Amino acid sequence: MMAANIAHNFNNILQVPLGYYDLMLEVLPPTSECREYVDLSRKAVERAAAISQLMLVYVGQGQKQTGNICLASEVQEVLAEFKKELSSEQELIMDLDCGSALIKADFGQMSDLMTAMLTNAAEAIGTGAGKIRVATKVVGGEDQELGQIFGAEVTANSHYVLMEISDTGCGMDPDTLTKIYDPFFTTKFTGRGLGLATVQGIVHGHHGAIAVQSELGQGTVFKIVFPLSVSTH
Ligand SMILES: Nc1ncnc2c1ncn2[C@@H]1O[C@H](COP(=O)(O)OP(=O)(O)O)[C@@H](O)[C@H]1O
Ligand SMILES: [Mg+2]
Repeated sequence: MMAANIAHNFNNILQVPLGYYDLMLEVLPPTSECREYVDLSRKAVERAAAISQLMLVYVGQGQKQTGNICLASEVQEVLAEFKKELSSEQELIMDLDCGSALIKADFGQMSDLMTAMLTNAAEAIGTGAGKIRVATKVVGGEDQELGQIFGAEVTANSHYVLMEISDTGCGMDPDTLTKIYDPFFTTKFTGRGLGLATVQGIVHGHHGAIAVQSELGQGTVFKIVFPLSVSTH
């Protein structure tokens, strides 16, 4: 695929300056003011490399083991692990049900997606009390609600697994909401801003769609759909 080749080439090219920056730092005297310039250049190239990785994910590359999986049972393990990290005031509610519906997906990327979503939900709640809910169900493409949320992205008359991740955390203002998928956008002190950019890439790479509803102080709901590959419907 053309886009994948471009992203691959681009990523390979960026490895060259990254290698030379390391060599430069080895030969430059410790007091050289050039060290700072090399450092800044390196950081910029590292960001470009991160973007080329995102491009690969976005076009469906970087999937290692793609197979027909039951999303609900595959993410259960990730959720169970995550639950252990929560405090006693924090609750993780699981409403996982997609019958025998399967989606064609890379398990590794699905667990990356789940971890990124749960991390954000937990960070939005912070140290106090709160709830995170993860629900999955099968929905038809002709479903009115689905059309309203995803518009033309979701075609009529086929079936999808809908996953909802909601939290009772801090929520987002309208301005923040317009930027959340931008690579490196973060409102957190130690944030990298790659979580949702990667999630969006994974969703797109799996021919799915993502939508969000949130208000400041009112919590957040993310909805993600993936087309079914095999179903009993
Ligand atoms: N569940 C959520 N509740 C509130 N804000 C969120 C949530 N998920 C994401 N955000 C906002 O989107 C931004 C980008 O998220 P992300 O790409 O994961 O980067 P990071 O978590 O490193 O900041 C966050 O900094 C935060 O402002
Ligand atoms: Mg994050």
